[in-house]
Amino acid sequence: MAVESAVERLFNFSAGPAAIPLSVLQQAQSDLLSLPGCGASVMEISHRSPQFGAVMEDAEQRLRRLLGMPDDYRVLFLQGGSRLQFSMVPMNLLGADRTANYLLTGAWGKNALSEAVKVGPTKVVWDGASTNYDRLPERDDVVVDDDAAYLHVTSNETIQGVQFQEDLDWGTVPVVSDMSSDFLSRPVDVSRYGLIYACAQKNAGLSGLTVVIIREDLLQRSQESLPGYLNYRSHVEANSLWNTPPTFGIYLFGLVAKWLEEEIGGLAAMQTQNQHQAQRLYDAVDASEGFYQGHAQPASRSLMNVTFRLPNDELQSQFLAEAAEHRLDALKGHRSVGGIRASIYNAMTDAGVDALRDFMNDFRSRNATA
Ligand SMILES: Cc1ncc(COP(=O)(O)O)c(C=O)c1O
Repeated sequence: MAVESAVERLFNFSAGPAAIPLSVLQQAQSDLLSLPGCGASVMEISHRSPQFGAVMEDAEQRLRRLLGMPDDYRVLFLQGGSRLQFSMVPMNLLGADRTANYLLTGAWGKNALSEAVKVGPTKVVWDGASTNYDRLPERDDVVVDDDAAYLHVTSNETIQGVQFQEDLDWGTVPVVSDMSSDFLSRPVDVSRYGLIYACAQKNAGLSGLTVVIIREDLLQRSQESLPGYLNYRSHVEANSLWNTPPTFGIYLFGLVAKWLEEEIGGLAAMQTQNQHQAQRLYDAVDASEGFYQGHAQPASRSLMNVTFRLPNDELQSQFLAEAAEHRLDALKGHRSVGGIRASIYNAMTDAGVDALRDFMNDFRSRNATA
């Protein structure tokens, strides 16, 4: 049964919700009717039961181990997607007397800013709009206010395909990073951040779960007057049980974390796999003599979302149609930028990347004009 369903599966390049490791899906399938020792599905038991408590504790501890998270950081399992974090971050961390700094490297950073301006004073410290978000800034080009409430960055811009490969550190200014589309794709020094958030549906399981990691001292900024759900302190004090959390998503997140620890061998090994996979696709772009034009400048390229265009719209449509015949799925670029986007998150297999690379080379040899 499991093998048959594996055979039917496409090479899934979806930007999110995205591919989930096969062994995680198989484990979820086998636990679906009864979580071992439970007699019921994880979806059917109380979020306050000891059985679910063990599931959530295991998920958190695995996350802490994977990231080597310092003790003064709290983990929250929330709902509302990363878009809710676009509002919760300023509502909790930005007082009336300070300014939030935003570094814009693509569409998601802009979206985050558009929610923050509704809450309080903001300042854009760098904006890649003039080159259509094809690159990251040089460090010296970004001047952050010494007394900024926080600096918001998007570690990987999912639509444009530009990614910071290093942790950002701005001294005493807390860095808030939207890691939605590269969470757990590489080791991260959590101590450099004030807050990290990521929706789970790209690298960490299911939509409906958002993971927030917050440095404890920042919780003092959350005002009592905030609506309960929107206050980080409510969730910290209730250990993510302030309301009913997304229980199945937390369970699946735990399985993904287990897969990362026990099958992949941790985040450094995950990073190496991601580097090799992305390199194979970028090599195909670079060797194509301009047939494929990458969107991101080479030094800013994402290991998660490989974005490129073909010489014209007709060839692009043909590329997508023929790719589908080769079981290469969900390669159409985001509607706002067009082109092709291959999302190769953690669960992407070498076989999937090789199949796409071979198809790209073959398609080019048949369609490039000499
Ligand atoms: C970098 C980034 N931030 C935020 C979001 C929004 O996430 P959600 O749809 O879970 O609110 C996405 C979704 O694609 C994303 O890629």
